[in-house]
Amino acid sequence: MLRYILMHKNIAVADIDIDETLGGISRIRSIISKEHLPVGVVRMQCQNETADRYAFNQWWTGRSIPASRMGLSDMLDTLGIESTNLLLTKCLGLSLSDHYWGKPYESNMSWEDVNFFDNDFSDDIGDLLFGTNGKISGFDLSSPDNTSDGNLKKRWKVIDGKRCLLKSGSNPYSQQTFNEVIASKIMDRLGIAHVPYSVTWINDEPYSVCEDFVTKDTELISAWRILQLRTKANHENEYLHYVDICKELGIDIVPALDKMIVLDYIIANEDRHFNNFGLLRDANTLEWLGAAPIFDSGTSLWYDRLTSRIPINGVNCKPFKKMHGEQLKLVSSFDWFDISKLNDIEDEILEVFGGDKAALYIDAERAKVIAAEVRNRIDTVESIAMSHTNNYDITSTEGDVEEDLAESYEIKMD
Ligand SMILES: Nc1ncnc2c1ncn2[C@@H]1O[C@H](COP(=O)(O)OP(=O)(O)OP(=O)(O)O)[C@@H](O)[C@H]1O
Ligand SMILES: [Mg+2]
Repeated sequence: MLRYILMHKNIAVADIDIDETLGGISRIRSIISKEHLPVGVVRMQCQNETADRYAFNQWWTGRSIPASRMGLSDMLDTLGIESTNLLLTKCLGLSLSDHYWGKPYESNMSWEDVNFFDNDFSDDIGDLLFGTNGKISGFDLSSPDNTSDGNLKKRWKVIDGKRCLLKSGSNPYSQQTFNEVIASKIMDRLGIAHVPYSVTWINDEPYSVCEDFVTKDTELISAWRILQLRTKANHENEYLHYVDICKELGIDIVPALDKMIVLDYIIANEDRHFNNFGLLRDANTLEWLGAAPIFDSGTSLWYDRLTSRIPINGVNCKPFKKMHGEQLKLVSSFDWFDISKLNDIEDEILEVFGGDKAALYIDAERAKVIAAEVRNRIDTVESIAMSHTNNYDITSTEGDVEEDLAESYEIKMD
């Protein structure tokens, strides 16, 4: 067992033991600062608020690279380790998305000494994940890549002094990388707060690049963690569960969700799961600041469909409804939606897909079909916005849409 103090910047949060053979938390010796515990480790309504070791351990091991990450098995083979949990202590659990870390017991390190926002980090884990590390031993494992989430191949890299996340797409089109740029352009036009993405090429393969939107003072708390704050009440659907908890935290999240839902409708996003959006929190005062800017919108635009199958099969929808048409009904207000802002967006889409190298992945026909489908979906949003009456109360206990409405929209939408 190794003893650590779980820290939130320079605040001591909990005195814990980490099992170095499994990489999990084997014991919580004491809670030092209840306020600074990771969100959702203690539920809001618990009378006798003690951190639950299971939840605590889920949170800690959930910081590690998921087992489903592309390129992981080669890296684990090279390092000769069984599980990515074991890498967490190698970087003191530090991340570039929040401010938690584990301080070896009795060490006198400070946040300033160790955080990756200011301090350099090793390229070894990133190189291993990208298959570009020539080393066979002597690895420096201190990297925020050990605490990055998500399935696509990715790494943090300092570019021009800025912490940037580089992320691949998947075969055969690598389309997610281009989609991130297209989603950024749509959000630029519509005035939706988002993380800007661009594409870079490494060994003739495309990667999306975005800057770290988390700073030394603000951190990302995923919607999934927010939902852990309390169980869903009987009258709540998934949407209301999230909206209500945000309200309890002092945030009216509805306008931001309206925008996210409309964006995801337009780009036919298939993967807006609860770890792909969230809130920002002031890491010093713990004040909730509002919705995090939109990130990870690449799993969209029929990214893995044969061109001939776009858009014949309905696309998946997350997180609130299984169908995009249904989810769009959760939007409270379209007042902000100005279709004229999206004039000729098709041209920008064609431009992104039409770059010399991009065209090797996305042919002209595919690009055209996607651009035309995006236009169809924008027009559908507009017609719904025009006839939107706010007829149903999304905060009512009914939550879900009435049958007859569902039928009439279903024809137009997926
Ligand atoms: N610009 C950023 N700044 C800070 N943290 C980020 C940024 N982009 C992503 N993250 C964090 O990294 C995680 C993984 O990134 P991302 O969601 O883009 O990857 P992914 O592989 O596409 O994920 P998924 O498994 O959802 O497909 C995010 O869930 C978020 O916690
Ligand atoms: Mg993601």
